[in-house]
Amino acid sequence: MGFKIVISPAGKRFEAEEGESILDAALRNGVSLSYGCRNAVCGACKGKLLSGEVSYEDLEPVALTEAEKAAGMVLFCGAEPRSDLTIAVDEVGSSEEIIVEQYPVRVAKLDKLAPDVMRVYLKLPEASRMQFLAGQYIDILLSDGRRRSFSLANAPHDDALIELHIRYIEGGEFTKHVFGDMPEKEMLRIEGPLGGFYLREHSPRPIIFVAGGTGFAPIKGIIEHALAENIERPMYLYWGARAKVDLYLNEMPKEWAARGVVNYIPVLSDAKASDQWQGREGYVHQAVLDDFPDLSGYDIYVGGPPVMVSAARDAFAAQGMMEENFFYDAFEFAKDSAASEA
Ligand SMILES: Cc1cc2nc3c(=O)[nH]c(=O)nc-3n(C[C@H](O)[C@H](O)[C@H](O)COP(=O)(O)OP(=O)(O)OC[C@H]3O[C@@H](n4cnc5c(N)ncnc54)[C@H](O)[C@@H]3O)c2cc1C
Ligand code: FES
Repeated sequence: MGFKIVISPAGKRFEAEEGESILDAALRNGVSLSYGCRNAVCGACKGKLLSGEVSYEDLEPVALTEAEKAAGMVLFCGAEPRSDLTIAVDEVGSSEEIIVEQYPVRVAKLDKLAPDVMRVYLKLPEASRMQFLAGQYIDILLSDGRRRSFSLANAPHDDALIELHIRYIEGGEFTKHVFGDMPEKEMLRIEGPLGGFYLREHSPRPIIFVAGGTGFAPIKGIIEHALAENIERPMYLYWGARAKVDLYLNEMPKEWAARGVVNYIPVLSDAKASDQWQGREGYVHQAVLDDFPDLSGYDIYVGGPPVMVSAARDAFAAQGMMEENFFYDAFEFAKDSAASEA
């Protein structure tokens, strides 16, 4: 039997299943509570129990003092509801509220999704998790201090592994390693989470997502988060790629569309004859312009190559988009390669 949990004073409600911690239930329902170790040790998930009963089954709440326990404080990562609950806690609403840290990670799995796209799963050390907002990115720290940025493709409720979608760059130092001799189990160092590309949850406006190539990665994370949270705003996803093979996880948005939760419009700019493409063609931002003569009432999230992002921004603004409702992640390449080109 599940238990109902109400967050005070916001009034937000979610349900925990039997044997589930308050934090796990919150994240599964798209509710962003603070956390760190998820192991009852660091204290980052501390909050107050206003009513109801909890118990700690698997974890000893070592981060709580006796005085805190007496004052009704609980560790949401370990506490499991034994009745309906009311808890007092602030939801994490912006990237500024999350601590940026460096972590050692191990390459857990490599999965080639297209000739030039690799899905890379990274595993943090046991008993350590990186809190983030869906859509943010991490930097991979190379041994000489240089960095390579990649977006988080998973949503916070699904954070056992970090998921990246990495496109091979001709002549690119790090991506050549990923596609060439990177072994599973290789150790890397990352810093994150970074960036301000995440869902503005309090907006009532419908959302248009525009992804170019691996710009699908952060947008996948945001949509998975929105679905976990059952947001009811209409969502449109335009995914632009050259040929059909470049829509490297096409079945996933097709399945969202079949469930009626996302309108999915794939757009190819250079379809091959063998693709037998019956869908939309041309530039992805042009497809949005064709479908929405007035963009003033929408939130627009764009992820992908800088040229696509800036073309979309200018054209959407000319068609009514409000600048404050435009959020983007431009996949600029690292400054060290720009410098070496000059
Ligand atoms: C915030 C952010 C998020 C990002 N997220 C992703 C992501 O999720 N998936 C992803 O595939 N990429 C993403 N990128 C781009 C990614 O960081 C670069 O492609 C990567 O750093 C290339 O590393 P490299 O060592 O292989 O290339 P480098 O050795 O740095 O570059 C070699 C040469 O390739 C060219 N080059 C490098 N990167 C690019 C590029 N992106 N486009 C065109 N030419 C390039 C330059 O001419 C450069 O001189 C993101 C970038 C940013 C800033
Ligand atoms: S997340 Fe560290 S104590 Fe709960």
